[in-house]
Amino acid sequence: MRELMQALREAAGKAILEAEDVDKLEELRIKYLGKKGEMTAILRQMGKLSAEERPVMGQLANQVRAEIEGLLEERRRAVSEAMLEKKLEREALDVTLPGEKPHLGHKHPMYNVLDQIKDIFIGMGFEILDGPEVELAAYNFDKLNIDEGHPSRDWTDTFYFTEDSQILLRTQTSPMQIHAMETRQPPIRVLAPGRVYRKDEVDATHSPMFHQIEGLVVDKGVTMADLKATLNLVVEKIYGKGTVTRFRPHHFPFTEPSCELDIQCHKCGGKGCPTCKGEGWIEILGAGMVHPKVLSGCGIDPDVYSGWAFGMGLERLAMGEYKITDLRLIFENDVRFLEQF
Ligand code: PHE
Repeated sequence: MRELMQALREAAGKAILEAEDVDKLEELRIKYLGKKGEMTAILRQMGKLSAEERPVMGQLANQVRAEIEGLLEERRRAVSEAMLEKKLEREALDVTLPGEKPHLGHKHPMYNVLDQIKDIFIGMGFEILDGPEVELAAYNFDKLNIDEGHPSRDWTDTFYFTEDSQILLRTQTSPMQIHAMETRQPPIRVLAPGRVYRKDEVDATHSPMFHQIEGLVVDKGVTMADLKATLNLVVEKIYGKGTVTRFRPHHFPFTEPSCELDIQCHKCGGKGCPTCKGEGWIEILGAGMVHPKVLSGCGIDPDVYSGWAFGMGLERLAMGEYKITDLRLIFENDVRFLEQF
C-alpha cells in the first residue's frame, strides 16, 4: 500500500505540472482525491492492514493528500497568472494609435438656401413661423377664397384623409397666412417655410412632397409698391445686384391683384439656354395683394389694413443655386451627392 501511495503521489505530481488550465486541474483533483478517486480506492484496502499499521497508513495518506492539494493550488495560481497575462497581451491597447475620425455630416444644400432666405427676411423684421402639414380644408382652401369647384381641390390633385374632403395634407403654405392673421394683430410680417403635398408623379422636376416659403405683410398703407420693392431686394440678395426682374399679371383666388415674379436667366442673360428652357426668364414665385375677403375673414378690416403675400418654391431655388438638374437628388439623401456641397 505504501508503494501504491507513493506511485499515486508521483503520478499526480507529474500530471499536475503538465496541466495547462484550471479546468484540467479540477479534473485531476477529482481523479486523485475525489470521493471516487484513486486515493479512496487505495484507502479501501486499509482493512487488510494490521492495527499498528493502520494509523501509520492513515498518516501517510493525509500527508500525500496535503502534498497533492498543495501542488494543485500552486499550479492553479501559476496557470491563472499565465492566462491573465495572455489575455492582457491580447487586449493590449495602443494609446498612441491615431483615433478614428467620426464622420460628421453637414447641412443639406436645400437648407443652406432656406437659411440664407430666412436671414434676409429676419433682417427685415419678419417672424419665422412653423405650421401644420396636416391641415383643414377650411385653412388650405375656404379661408383663402378657393371655393368648392376649384380644380386644386380635386381628389386627383390633393391628398385627403377623410371622405368628406375636410382634412388633408396642405397643398401650399398659404394656409399659414390665415394662421398668422388669426393669431396676431397688424402690423404682421411673417415668413413660413415648410413641406407641401400634391399628387404628382415623381420625375426630374416633380415630387409629391416639396417645400414652399410663404411670406405675408399686413399693415396700414401697404401697397403693391412695397411688394415689388421688397421682392426685388430679396432677389438681389439671392441672385446678386443688378438681377433683372419681371412682374407678370397672374391669378390667385386669395390675392388681388396677383402676379408672378420672373428673373432674367442668370445663366444666359435672357438669350435663352437650357437653364431657362429657352425662355430667357425663370419664374420664381407667385404673389399679390391679400384679397379683402381673406383679410375680413380673419377679422382684419380691409378698409383700414392692406397686405401682400408671396409663395416661393424652395427646391427650384436650391437647384438653380447649386446647378442640380434632377429634383430626386435632393430627396434621395445619397451621401455621395450631399457631400459635394
Ligand atoms: N400658394 C400659391 C401657390 O402655391 C403661391 C402664392 C402664395 C401666391 C401667396 C400668392 C400669394 O402657387
